[in-house]
Amino acid sequence: MKYDFDAVYDRRGTQSFKWDYNGHYFGNPAVLPFWVADMDFPCAQPIVAALKERAEHRIYGYTERSPSFSEAILEWLRTRHGWIVDKDWLVFCPPGIIPAIDILLGLTTHKGDSVVIQTPAYLPLEDVIARNNVVIENPLIPRQTGYEFDFAHLAACIRRDTRALLLCSPHSPTGRVWTLQELETLADICRRHGILVISDEVHADVLLFGNRHHHFGCLPGEYGYRSVTCISAGKTFNISGLQLSTLIIQDPELRAAFKRHLGVLQMTQGNLFGEIAAEAAYRQGADWLDQVIAYVEGNVRFLEEYVSEHLPNVRAFLPQGSYLAWLDFGAFGKPVADLNQRLIHRAGVALYEGRYFGTTEPYYRMNLACPRIYLETALCRMKRALF
Ligand SMILES: Cc1ncc(COP(=O)(O)O)c(C=O)c1O
Repeated sequence: MKYDFDAVYDRRGTQSFKWDYNGHYFGNPAVLPFWVADMDFPCAQPIVAALKERAEHRIYGYTERSPSFSEAILEWLRTRHGWIVDKDWLVFCPPGIIPAIDILLGLTTHKGDSVVIQTPAYLPLEDVIARNNVVIENPLIPRQTGYEFDFAHLAACIRRDTRALLLCSPHSPTGRVWTLQELETLADICRRHGILVISDEVHADVLLFGNRHHHFGCLPGEYGYRSVTCISAGKTFNISGLQLSTLIIQDPELRAAFKRHLGVLQMTQGNLFGEIAAEAAYRQGADWLDQVIAYVEGNVRFLEEYVSEHLPNVRAFLPQGSYLAWLDFGAFGKPVADLNQRLIHRAGVALYEGRYFGTTEPYYRMNLACPRIYLETALCRMKRALF
């Protein structure tokens, strides 16, 4: 089936976080929004069909997770990424990846132990560490070709009480898809210090321009055992509102402890519609995803060309993975408050400001999973408002 991603769907009035709350978050309800990381494209038809079919049954009481859901995930990981995962390693966390990380840190650290994160970072990841642990920031280095790890700083900043490292792979907001060599170097440092790697891989399926993702749990050697890989169909198939994430935990003790914790919280039964949507997506959504990726690549190229021609003061870090661009407005030489005023009130465009990724510098994250006309409109308005 051929999907038309140029078509505009009005999301207003659907309780959309990105579209319906801009008055509250930006003081301008009419902005064109590019902040929250979901897509402005309708889901793949098989997902809609599966949800409708189950909805027609009309009884939505407590459910058990179906074995065929686990099989669908294993099949996806095998065919799409070449990773053969044991069914027993899968653990489901209904509300999402952030609560899953919160539980993992609770199980593997003591209050006050330190945890490393690469910055800039999606702020909820830092916040979840800061609840009980000390955040150690290991800033990524911006290079002409994209951001890179600072391994020397990483080795130097690890403390005796450092228990875990939170990795975001592919990385949001910078869009980097880490190479196998980079991940192996990181794994080696963490292994030497006995550090658990929690790898947030929510963006792992949206791989642009032929880039290849390496799941942390599938690195060569024994490292998979000392890591937890977090995946989700939410961003990949635009079903984040149905809240369901999956963890791959190879260490049987940690897995058992995690499941016990979910049991105590009554979180083992799951989210019926999240599971139905994710299973349909993994089984029948590949074709839709391939088309989304091709369309987003077109948007990335459009952004790149527009910026180089009309917005030379913007340095754009273009995504290798994910549908998010990271834009550096530093060359305007204006304070963030002034840039915000121009973007939100003059241009009527809502980007995700750098402070939500832990930086006070004038950086913005822009979501490119939208009809091209939105992007074109926003960039034209930004050009007028910024000069
Ligand atoms: C890097 C990263 N991790 C985790 C999440 C949360 O994902 P979910 O809602 O699927 O748990 C997001 C959402 O924006 C994200 O960008």
